[in-house]
Amino acid sequence: MSETATILDPAHRAKFSAMTEGTQEDWAIIANEYRGFATGLPDRVLKHLRLLDGDFGGFPIDRMQHSLQTATRAHRDGRDEQYVVMALLHDIGDTLGSYNHPDVAAAIIKPFVSDEIHWICANHGAFQGYYYFHYIGGDRNIRDNFRGSPYFDACAEFCEKYDQAAFDADYQSEPLEFFEPMLRRVMARPINSMYAKAAEAQAA
Ligand SMILES: [Fe+2]
Ligand SMILES: [Fe+2]
Repeated sequence: MSETATILDPAHRAKFSAMTEGTQEDWAIIANEYRGFATGLPDRVLKHLRLLDGDFGGFPIDRMQHSLQTATRAHRDGRDEQYVVMALLHDIGDTLGSYNHPDVAAAIIKPFVSDEIHWICANHGAFQGYYYFHYIGGDRNIRDNFRGSPYFDACAEFCEKYDQAAFDADYQSEPLEFFEPMLRRVMARPINSMYAKAAEAQAA
């Protein structure tokens, strides 16, 4: 049966009209579908990342090239795969999170990365501001509000070495295909998800 036919087959759907009526059988169906859907996450992320292609927003290079350059710089500097994937995705929220883009990227990578890498992603906006907030009427030192965090220096380093530096139109970045296997490896292993834990317990 083709994938589309499987999706349309009523046998692959729960029978309840409210969760209060749910049965073990219903949830076996949903859990099974979830496993297939979850494995498609890297493909959906890559598709969304490509939305940044051609999106300049006034910057010297588009957001896709900026993302690739940030990830390439991190990779060439010897960062591990979690870090490089974070660098690749750190601005993926620009499309839907126009007023809080770091939150979007941080939510996507949270199940797959360390607390430190998640923190860097979630707060890079304030740290990146050190390089330009004073040009748009803001406080470039707003990052000082985070001085108490054990991850302050790591986040400052991410912005200094990779993010603020990744607007060079002449830099030769790796293509998205280079990072795909890395993204798939990192996203194959959720280390922090109540849904993944539940699915694992059921499969065991
Ligand atoms: Fe950003
Ligand atoms: Fe960025």
